[in-house]
Amino acid sequence: MRIDIVTLFPRMVEGPIAESILGRARERGLIDIRVVNLREYAEGRHRVADDYQFGGGGGMVLKPEPLFAAVEALRTPRARVVLLDPRGRRFTQEIARELGAVAHLILLAGRYEGVDERVSTALADDEVSIGDYVLTGGELPALVVTDAVARLIPGVLGDAAAAGQDSFARGLLEGPQYTRPEEFHGMRVPDVLLSGDHQMIARWRRAQALWRTWQRRPDLLETAELTPAEQKLVEEFRRGKGPDESWMRSA
Ligand code: ADE
Repeated sequence: MRIDIVTLFPRMVEGPIAESILGRARERGLIDIRVVNLREYAEGRHRVADDYQFGGGGGMVLKPEPLFAAVEALRTPRARVVLLDPRGRRFTQEIARELGAVAHLILLAGRYEGVDERVSTALADDEVSIGDYVLTGGELPALVVTDAVARLIPGVLGDAAAAGQDSFARGLLEGPQYTRPEEFHGMRVPDVLLSGDHQMIARWRRAQALWRTWQRRPDLLETAELTPAEQKLVEEFRRGKGPDESWMRSA
């Protein structure tokens, strides 16, 4: 998979993609992430990429020509052009999966003052927002999308099962996790996790994930695909029972 990030501020994105899991995935050739300096596609001696907006009003707007030229140079037959913009569709794990199925993503980082509308009309196939707040530009959103998509590529995460377990993978939040020591500041790791009984552990985890989702994001339970046993647990939560009373009884 290839991801191109087109930006006026390459250094804003170069650090994060060179580090940690993304950096390793690139080194291992699992993903090809390129940072493209928009200024290189701007014309003139000063390579100006933004301009005042027609009609007045403060703030510079990204000009269409450099963005169109950059995409023309980068495009491959299977490329999808995604503009990062607070007006886009809100990014979710589902959209991460959808974009992860695309062989080549071209991510256009806008600036917060705006991008010429013709980019949205005639260049971008898709517009994505990472949430209902406004950032100074699309660089951090492009990194968020890149990270969320890259970790779904087989082999990028060390443990093959890891991405299937996390929050949202099944439409639920993840339950609590513990590592050593068994006791820390008077807080003990739940006995069941030390029991070695894998079936019990799986049941406990499922109940905890459901409980956490019920507590923090009940809206997710409306769309999550629950097994009959899980539905029964949620029914118990509705009747006021906590996960500690319920999970042992769940089949
Ligand atoms: N650019 C500025 N804010 C943004 C947001 N929330 N999502 C995507 N792009 C943005």
